[in-house]
Amino acid sequence: MAKRWYRDRKKEFYYKQAKKQGYRARSAYKLLQIQQRYNILKRGDTILDLGAAPGGWSQVAKEIVGEEGKVIGVDLLPIKPIKNIHFIEGDITDTETMEKIKELIGKKKIDVVISDMSPNISGNYSLDQARSVWLCEHALNYAENFLKEKGNLVCKVFEGEDFNNLRAKIKKRFHKVENVIPKASRKTSSEVYLVGISFKPDS
Ligand SMILES: C[S@@+](CC[C@H](N)C(=O)[O-])C[C@H]1O[C@@H](n2cnc3c(N)ncnc32)[C@H](O)[C@@H]1O
Repeated sequence: MAKRWYRDRKKEFYYKQAKKQGYRARSAYKLLQIQQRYNILKRGDTILDLGAAPGGWSQVAKEIVGEEGKVIGVDLLPIKPIKNIHFIEGDITDTETMEKIKELIGKKKIDVVISDMSPNISGNYSLDQARSVWLCEHALNYAENFLKEKGNLVCKVFEGEDFNNLRAKIKKRFHKVENVIPKASRKTSSEVYLVGISFKPDS
């Protein structure tokens, strides 16, 4: 009972904060907390936000990169336009979506890939968890295709089978990988953010 009370208070707190500060989703605070700890997004950066709807992470990213930076958001769902954010409606697992991103950035590389993607929750944990790993693998593939040397990756995944395999794959391509559970994540949630710091392109 006490646990539930605490959880509801926390949910309510971030919900109210988001309303007050003009963020479209409470999840904005998860990225803000990750940023506070690792400082992975910088002014002037180009950011690719995978699973961007309704737009909370894109808003946070845009505030950080400023006018000289660029934010590209992608989602299956449409979003209400956000000033100065390029949005692609599409499935990140489609090659067509990747082509659209290539067109948008030209020869430029991306500084940070952020992914807060979640599969449609079926209620079958093993299935949902496997899908979240699969989405994260796609995010890693985007990082491998588009990140500049020393760029960063943030990727949400549900804990469970293959988590360690996925982490090891990320570890191979980044100098460091950290598991982060932001305070804004619900206590009952099994989500973890894998933060890959300083990308190592193929030599
Ligand atoms: C938790 S929400 C993201 C919230 C967002 N970070 C924010 O702050 O507003 C997860 C999103 O992942 C998207 N998603 C899941 N699978 C996807 C896919 N294959 N391609 C694109 N987006 C996907 C969903 O449509 C959903 O909008």
